[in-house]
Amino acid sequence: MAAIKILPDIYSVGAVDWNVRNFHGHTYTTKRGSSYNAYLIIDEKITLVDTVYGPFSLELIDNIRQVIPLEKIDYIIANHVEPDHSGALPALMPLCPKAKIFGTAKCKEGLYKHYYGNWDFQVVKTADKLKLGRRTLTFIEAPMIHWPDSMFTYCRDDALLMPNDAFGQHFAASERFDNEVNQCSLMEEAESYYANILWPLSQVILKKIEELQKMNIPIKMIAPSHGVIWRDDPSKIINSYISWAKGESKIKVVMAYETMWGATAKMAEHIAEGISSNQIDVKVYNIAESDRTEVITQMLTARGFLFGSSTHDNDMLPNIAAFLEIVKGLKPKGRKISFFGSYGWAGGALKEMGEMLKDSGGDFTTPGFSVKYVPDKAELAECFEFGNKFARLLK
Ligand code: FEO
Repeated sequence: MAAIKILPDIYSVGAVDWNVRNFHGHTYTTKRGSSYNAYLIIDEKITLVDTVYGPFSLELIDNIRQVIPLEKIDYIIANHVEPDHSGALPALMPLCPKAKIFGTAKCKEGLYKHYYGNWDFQVVKTADKLKLGRRTLTFIEAPMIHWPDSMFTYCRDDALLMPNDAFGQHFAASERFDNEVNQCSLMEEAESYYANILWPLSQVILKKIEELQKMNIPIKMIAPSHGVIWRDDPSKIINSYISWAKGESKIKVVMAYETMWGATAKMAEHIAEGISSNQIDVKVYNIAESDRTEVITQMLTARGFLFGSSTHDNDMLPNIAAFLEIVKGLKPKGRKISFFGSYGWAGGALKEMGEMLKDSGGDFTTPGFSVKYVPDKAELAECFEFGNKFARLLK
C-alpha cells in the first residue's frame, strides 16, 4: 500500500497484511487478512501516529519517504504498545534522530520492556495537548482498550479521532475508506473484531464512549489502527459499539457441541429443529470442526446459547471444554444458556459445563437435557421439545 492522503496534509502510511490468517497467537482467525495503520501529519512539527508490525517496517518507511524524508519527523505518537502497532519502532527510530515519542506512562514502561531502546519519551495523560503548528492534538487515555497502555489521539482541527485498536476491523483492502468497500463484509469484520477482542471489555468501552460524548468533540472521521477508515458516517460504528457493549441481542440461538460417536450430534440436529419450528434463527457448530472466531461472532448478538457434549471420564470433551473456557471470559450477562449431551453409564458433561460457566453471568434457568447412549425415536422427540421450549423462552 502506498501513502494515501486521507485529509489535507494527513496521510495513511501503514501496511496491508493480505495473508495473515491467525492473530493473537492463534486465538483469532483473520479470514480477510488485516492492516496495520499509521498516519503521518504534515505540519510545523511533522508527526507520525503509530507504526506497524515489525515485518512491515520497510513498507512503512517507504510510505513515509513518499511524503517526507524520515529525518524530518519530530514527533511519534505511540497510542499502544502491542507489537502490531509499535513493532517498527526499532527500525524507524535510528532513521528519525530528532523524533520524540509521546504515550501514556504504561506505554513508556511497555515499550521499554519490549525493545529496550533509550528513546526520548514524553508521558502524556488525558486532556494533554500537543501543538503541531496549525493543528493541535489532544490525548485521551483509554486503558484496556485494548491494553493498559492504550490511548486515543484526537485532532479537533480535522475532527479526526485516531483511537488505535478501537473501531478497527481485521479487513485487508486496497481501499482506505468505509464507503469504498462492501458494507456487509465491513460490518461482519467490525462485529467479529468486537466479539473476539473487545467483548469482555464492554463496560470499559461504554464508559469511554460516554466520556467522549461528554467531551462534546466533533468526530467527522475515525481512523483506527486496523482496517478501513470510518468517514461516511462514523456514528454508525459508534452506535454499533454501544449496542454490542450493552449486550443488545436478537432472538437467535447459537449451539456449539462436541460429539464422540454421533449421539450428541443427533441430539443437536433435533434440538435445532425444535428451535427453528418457532421461526427462530439457529446456528449449529460442531466445535471440534468449526472456526471459533466465527462462533463467537455469531454469539455476540444471540439471545440463547446451547452447549452440548458427550460424557467422557465424567467430564465434557476437550474441544468444547476449551471453547467454554473462552465463553466464560466473555461474561455473556443475561443470555439464556443450557446444556445437552449423551452419556454411557455415568454422566458428568452437563454438570461440568454448568460449573465452567457458573460465574459467567448467563441465565441458567432452563434445565439441561441428557440421553443415555444413542437417542431413540421418543428421545429425539424430547430433543425437539427441549429446543422448542428453549426457543419460546427467548421471545
Ligand atoms: Fe492491534 Fe492491541 O493491538
